[in-house]
Amino acid sequence: MSMKNANPSEEIKNPLSSLDEWEQDVLDRYPDPSSIAQNKGTAEFRNYVEPPRDTVKEFYRLNHTYQTYDYVMQKKADFLRFNKKEMPIWKAFDFLNELVDDSDPDTDLDQMQHLLQTSEAIRNDGHPDWMVLVGLIHDMGKVLCLFGEPQWGVVGDTFPVGCAYSDKIVFPEFFAANPDYTDKVYSTQYGVYEPNCGLEKVHMSWGHDEYVYHMMKDHIPEGGLYMLRYHSFYAQHREHAYDHLMNDHDREMFKWVKLFNPYDLYSKNPNQKSWEELKPYYQDLVAKYLPATLKF
Ligand SMILES: [Fe+2]
Ligand SMILES: [Fe+2]
Repeated sequence: MSMKNANPSEEIKNPLSSLDEWEQDVLDRYPDPSSIAQNKGTAEFRNYVEPPRDTVKEFYRLNHTYQTYDYVMQKKADFLRFNKKEMPIWKAFDFLNELVDDSDPDTDLDQMQHLLQTSEAIRNDGHPDWMVLVGLIHDMGKVLCLFGEPQWGVVGDTFPVGCAYSDKIVFPEFFAANPDYTDKVYSTQYGVYEPNCGLEKVHMSWGHDEYVYHMMKDHIPEGGLYMLRYHSFYAQHREHAYDHLMNDHDREMFKWVKLFNPYDLYSKNPNQKSWEELKPYYQDLVAKYLPATLKF
């Protein structure tokens, strides 16, 4: 069977040993400029060539092959009904921690630690409390894995579907196997969209970002929603590949997305306070913005 006609359900392969392997790859691609300046000199900045591990490459191949416009529509129709499960946010975090694969020696943090390090770094810098909350919940959409979704439909750089895939997206050559790549409409610069129509009208590839954005839509200020929806949209917030779909409002709101990104990538802190110590603050914060249970 040609790859173009392959049915995603036949290829629910999970090449990564854990979801963190993708995040480590993003960090290799966009290393912390402050630590480079301090430790290595700027010459090493942006020397990303390709992931050292075939697993990451295989992950991108699957992601780029199967994230089609139709796939996104199907996943939205299914998951945005939020009829799978209802639970308190704390239960969802327990769920997330089950995702850690301790066979991977590089995974030294569970998901909760990453979330807390992100939110605590935001809090320490004195940003608004809703941004601290965004730090805490930004990866909660990864619970998609626990509903049987493949890694390539949960994590990975995100990008618009329904229009041409940018060659600024990591490993653009893998899009050649995606049926939309040769579609009469979807392969054009604007595809199903109008010039500068605004990202609100644009369908993004499906994954944990889009899922958590919809989950939080009614609860968090708009800057936070931008952070949630676009935090893996590196092709735009780092490479500016989709300016032609953005409107002035998006450009204004992307300041929040850019503000958030370093906290997501560079907030590793070996001296993180314990959850026990932090719990009262976060319980109050969650109660301020979110209902007692969330629908998944
Ligand atoms: Fe994320
Ligand atoms: Fe993250």
